[in-house]
Amino acid sequence: MRHFLTLNDFSKDEIIEILNLSKKIKNEAENKIFKPYLEKQTLAMIFEKNSTRTRVSFEVGMYQLGGHALFLSKNDMQLNRGELLKDTALVISSMCDIIMARVYRHKDLKILAKYSKVPVINGLSDLFHPAQLMADLLTLMELGFNLEDLKVAYIGDANNMSNSWLMAASKLGFELKIATPKNYEIDSEILKIALDNAKQSGAKISVSNNPKKAIELANVATTDTWMSMGNKEQKEEKIKHFKGFCVDNELMKLADREAKFLHCLPVYRDYEVSKEVFEKHSKEIFLEAENRLHAQKGLLVWLNEKRKNNVR
Ligand code: CP
Ligand code: NVA
Repeated sequence: MRHFLTLNDFSKDEIIEILNLSKKIKNEAENKIFKPYLEKQTLAMIFEKNSTRTRVSFEVGMYQLGGHALFLSKNDMQLNRGELLKDTALVISSMCDIIMARVYRHKDLKILAKYSKVPVINGLSDLFHPAQLMADLLTLMELGFNLEDLKVAYIGDANNMSNSWLMAASKLGFELKIATPKNYEIDSEILKIALDNAKQSGAKISVSNNPKKAIELANVATTDTWMSMGNKEQKEEKIKHFKGFCVDNELMKLADREAKFLHCLPVYRDYEVSKEVFEKHSKEIFLEAENRLHAQKGLLVWLNEKRKNNVR
């Protein structure tokens, strides 16, 4: 059974296959062709945390594919009263065809996947946000980039987004320079996985505490909120430590003249990115947001194809 918990579980060819399928289904939708790839199928969406894009894109995506999505807030589930994840996975997967879950602890996704009889998709965990990365990669393809030629600078907090960029770069073989403030570095186990992958793919990966160096000649710059959901640090404290890590015009000037800027949203203007940089790049950022829908439709169809080969 193939699950989608991290890009690390996927080969370069598989990632590209999913992206091409997403692009094909997006083209069909743009021509008002909605093929029922997932007719009569149901996606269970478990949310432990808030969401706008993830919920809307998966729900609309399932509808456009001829299926249906169930919104399940953890607060309203028996999970909230102590029912085991194992039992929840067995029950939901006996009635639904795919599960998507947004959870605090990545290890809870692994439990869901272990007991589920259907594919489980990571809709964001403390460690990874791979569905977002598929939309980011689709966006960059559409903006004319050859994925192998990307030179990405990630400036800011070490979190599920920086980790997901590490998996994407190290699998696909592109350059990624990450700059985080001192004492907010990338988890060493995650970095090790990326560096090991990079030996195979030829990706150039580096981490530092120097945003100016990281962004030098990058053709894509990106960042994410400094206060992720579930973050227990003090906001004021963190803002002090992140001085110099706001992606502003001064930093962007060091990047390639044609550099693009991506943000998974929601954005906190004048914290992780200046209002000016955000506005200047809003076209690509909102294309990135829309592409959550298209990238995930490809992913859902791809996972379903794989599942067909399994006995339920
Ligand atoms: N980028 C993203 O996952 O947005 P939501 O939190 O709104 O789903
Ligand atoms: N790093 C952010 C991403 C939100 C989409 C968070 O986990 O809150």
